[in-house]
Amino acid sequence: MNNFASSLKNKSKFLIFGCGFSGSFFAKTIRKLGCTVLTSSRSENKDPNNFVFNSENGKVPDEKIFDGVTHILSCIPPGKNGNDPVLEIFKNKLKSLSLEWVGYLSTTGVYGNTKGNWVSEIDKPNPGQKRSHVRLNCEKEWLKSGLPVQIFRLPGIYGPGRSTFEAIKNQKICVISKKDQVFSRIHVADITNAIIYLLNNRNSLKFHQIINIADDEPCSQIEVIQYCYSLLGLKMPNAISFEDAKNRLSPIAQSFWMENRRVSNKLLCEKLGYKLIYKNYKLGLENCFLDS
Ligand SMILES: NC(=O)c1ccc[n+]([C@@H]2O[C@H](COP(=O)([O-])OP(=O)(O)OC[C@H]3O[C@@H](n4cnc5c(N)ncnc54)[C@H](OP(=O)(O)O)[C@@H]3O)[C@@H](O)[C@H]2O)c1
Repeated sequence: MNNFASSLKNKSKFLIFGCGFSGSFFAKTIRKLGCTVLTSSRSENKDPNNFVFNSENGKVPDEKIFDGVTHILSCIPPGKNGNDPVLEIFKNKLKSLSLEWVGYLSTTGVYGNTKGNWVSEIDKPNPGQKRSHVRLNCEKEWLKSGLPVQIFRLPGIYGPGRSTFEAIKNQKICVISKKDQVFSRIHVADITNAIIYLLNNRNSLKFHQIINIADDEPCSQIEVIQYCYSLLGLKMPNAISFEDAKNRLSPIAQSFWMENRRVSNKLLCEKLGYKLIYKNYKLGLENCFLDS
C-alpha cells in the first residue's frame, strides 16, 4: 500500500460514480492514501467532494469534475432502461480523457446457476435472471468502450453497517433452510483492498479485465445467521424450509435462492497473490460485531 500512496498521492484523482456502500468505503480508504477523490450521489449532500449525478432524471454534474482525473470507479448498477448510467451519459467524455484506469463493480449473478459448483472467470457467463442479462450487457459495453477497464464480479457484499446483524436488529431475519444451498460473499474492505492491491502492483502483475472478488468459503445462509446469534449470545429462531418460506419472500429475494454457486477467487488470491483480510464469514462478521 505504501508504494501506491507514494507513487499516486500527488497526482491521482479518482472519480467514484455511486458513493453507496462499496463506493464510500473505497473513497474513504483511497483518500487516506493521499489521493484526490470526488464522489457522486443522486441527491445533494453536505460533502464538498460530492457531486450530484442521477441518470434517471438527467441530473448531471458540471464537466469540470473531470479536470485532471486519472482513475474512475463505477459502483452504479444498470439503469431502469438497462443501460449503464455512466456510459450512457459520459462515454465520449471518458474517452476524451487520458485515464490510467477504470474500474467497474459488477456481480457474480452473470454466471447464473451452477447448482453449487465452483465458477471462475474462464467460465462462460450464463445469466438466468433478467437483471443478470442486463448486467452482462453493461459489462460488454464497458469492455467495448476502449477504456482501460477492469471489471470486478462481486457476490453478496457485507460489512459494518450492512450485515446479518442489522437484519437481526431490525427483526427482518428469516431463517430459511434449503438443502445444499450455498452463497458466496465478500467483505466490503476486501473489495477496496483487492482493488488497491491490483493498482499498486499493476506494473508487475498481468492485467486481467475480469476478476472475481469473493472470500474463500461459500456456505449456507443458516451458518452465517447462526454465527451472528452466537456472537450476540442469543438463540437463533427455528429454521423454516424454503418451500414454506418462499411465498413470503419478495420476487428478488426468491430469485437469489434460485441460484446456487460457489465463486472461485483463485485468479485474485492464487495467481495474482492478493491476501484476503476476511477469508471467511466468521472473520468478517467478527469485524462487523466489533464495529457495531
Ligand atoms: N449489494 C450487494 O450485495 C451486491 C452484490 C454484487 C454486486 N453488487 C453491485 O456492486 C455495485 C456496488 O454495490 P453496493 O451495494 O455498494 O451499491 P449501493 O450501496 O446500492 O450504491 C449504489 C450507488 O449507485 C448510485 N446510483 C444508483 N442508481 C443510479 C443512477 N441511476 N444514476 C446515478 N447513480 C445511481 C446510488 O446513489 P445514491 O448514493 O444516491 O443512493 C449509490 O451511490 C452495484 O452495481 C451493485 O449492484 C452489489
